[in-house]
Amino acid sequence: MPGGDILSTHIEPKGKLAIQVTAMPADTNANGDIFGGWVISHMDMGAGIEARRRSGCRAVTVAIDSVVFLKPVNVGDTVSCYAQLLKVGRTSMQFKMEVWTLSIHEQYPKKVAEGLFTFVAINEQGQPQLVDR
Ligand SMILES: CC(C)(COP(=O)(O)OP(=O)(O)OC[C@H]1O[C@@H](n2cnc3c(N)ncnc32)[C@H](O)[C@@H]1OP(=O)(O)O)[C@@H](O)C(=O)NCCC(=O)NCCS
Repeated sequence: MPGGDILSTHIEPKGKLAIQVTAMPADTNANGDIFGGWVISHMDMGAGIEARRRSGCRAVTVAIDSVVFLKPVNVGDTVSCYAQLLKVGRTSMQFKMEVWTLSIHEQYPKKVAEGLFTFVAINEQGQPQLVDR
């Protein structure tokens, strides 16, 4: 059996696929690449989906830390945001978000951005609510 798969060095995303979308021309910056704020907003949405799933209630972003853009995102790329739960506090949840893209020309996706997103579970009054640990 050929050893290609065994020897393959491509790395995999960490976490659960939270959101997937195609990068469109309207999302570009002046260089023609995808605008960083667009990428962050999708990381935020993906983390929010996971925060609601984990807490079972509404959740809001309280902090975004250490966002790094590693490679440009191009129009037409499939953009996938993965969420990995790092920490559950009393009312907060911290997720490491990874963004991976795949273009039509590539065989494997590549990691283009990552960052830490902290959400707080809230009640109907918008006050912090305990999260089951
Ligand atoms: C999130 C919010 C409800 C928290 O209210 P608060 O009275 O500050 O609550 P607390 O001080 O009790 O903090 C709640 C939790 O957030 C955590 N937290 C607060 N500020 C933080 C920060 N800068 N970084 C990381 N965690 C933070 C606290 O450690 C605490 O976690 P724990 O309960 O797990 O120990 C309030 O700040 C808020 O409504 N912010 C606006 C949220 C929003 O609109 N987000 C969308 C983007 S505009």
